[in-house]
Amino acid sequence: MNYDIAEIKYKLKKYGQEHLLNFYDTLDENKKEELLKQINEINFELINSLYSKTKESTKNENVQIEPMSFIDKSKLNDKYKFYEDIGKKAIKEGKLAVVTMAGGQGTRLGHNGPKGTFDIGLDSHKSLFELLCDYIKEESRKYDVQIPWFIMTSNENNADTIEFFKKNKYFGYEKNIYFFIQGELPMVDTEGKILIGEDGLIKEAADGHGGVYESLIKSGMIQKMKERGVEWVFIGGVDNCLVKMVDPILMGIAIDEKVTAAGKSVVKANPYEKVGAFCKKNGRPSVVEYSEITEDMAKATDENGNLLYGESHILCNLFNIVAIERMGNTPLPYHIAFKKATYIDKDGNKIVPDSPNAYKFEAFLFDAFGEVDNMVILRVKREDEFAPVKNATGVDSPETARKLYNDFYKLS
Ligand code: UTP
Repeated sequence: MNYDIAEIKYKLKKYGQEHLLNFYDTLDENKKEELLKQINEINFELINSLYSKTKESTKNENVQIEPMSFIDKSKLNDKYKFYEDIGKKAIKEGKLAVVTMAGGQGTRLGHNGPKGTFDIGLDSHKSLFELLCDYIKEESRKYDVQIPWFIMTSNENNADTIEFFKKNKYFGYEKNIYFFIQGELPMVDTEGKILIGEDGLIKEAADGHGGVYESLIKSGMIQKMKERGVEWVFIGGVDNCLVKMVDPILMGIAIDEKVTAAGKSVVKANPYEKVGAFCKKNGRPSVVEYSEITEDMAKATDENGNLLYGESHILCNLFNIVAIERMGNTPLPYHIAFKKATYIDKDGNKIVPDSPNAYKFEAFLFDAFGEVDNMVILRVKREDEFAPVKNATGVDSPETARKLYNDFYKLS
């Protein structure tokens, strides 16, 4: 594509970002083209307004937070079979697809490579990707269908992810695996200037797991799902090695209740556990961060002794395609993270910071829940479905996940 340099320069001047062309002349033709394409695609109004927000306090005084009801999977009694039959029928008919979000940076874990390639130290030494794939293959066999698996990567880890799958012959599931890349936004410094990376291009970062809905649409994956007759999509993270992506009960309840979204929760380990909890915000389904509620709200219980805000959101949600299309076409708010980012300064020096120096903007998956009319929450057992791998050591680490995995599958 031919870009009008004069027009681009005018735009950069207007938004105070002229430095983005500082090293343009030193780039080869491909990179020149790439840089102009990047600049052309930047929504400078959005970046400016996000930068302004870094200077504001983020209190949401006008948001009314209320508890959200849930269904306990272990107390369904005779309804269990009823829901299971509905869900099993839909799965057998090929109506379910699985999406795994694997575009994150995994900063806390500190693994050198995509998080899905990480070996949590099981005797089998299988990677997180292989554990998830084994599970999907087994469920496909059980229901006599081929459940399609859509994997979201980011520009940063897409090539490494695909290479890993190729090397492992797609774990024998190649025909049913699709990769798509999530969106990105430029990173800005503390003065609001967009950063230039070591490659001379704009320094961009993945736009958060909330980018999944829009990326599913833009990448054509929703279309592929429709072609395969999919109606329901389970969306989960790559870093929960006990995630149960194919759950006839969750599907059966969603279908029977005629909702377009359903989420799984586990009870908070204690009222102050640092996790988000399902709630209603201004009457709509949402998730409240632990930092958003007061101590009194955190401790409050209902007449059965359940914490009012005790249903942790574990990034295990099921959506009808209709809901994904609605959520993917609605802009989500961005949250601000202050991160370390290596960049090229205005004099051409490479700067490797030893403390955070740049803002990254991320959308959160649950900010879209308000777009659905209603959402069913299913409480499941932590030990059956939740073994997160977040930190290198301690809580939610490979060690804790490995124990949970081995206990669940009775491996040692
Ligand atoms: P986390 O929020 O735990 O982030 O992601 P992370 O990247 O794994 O780890 P940290 O915070 O850098 O240490 C939860 C899930 O959402 C995915 C992750 O890959 C993980 O499966 N995710 C997160 C994305 O796919 N894209 C993103 O932009 C962010």
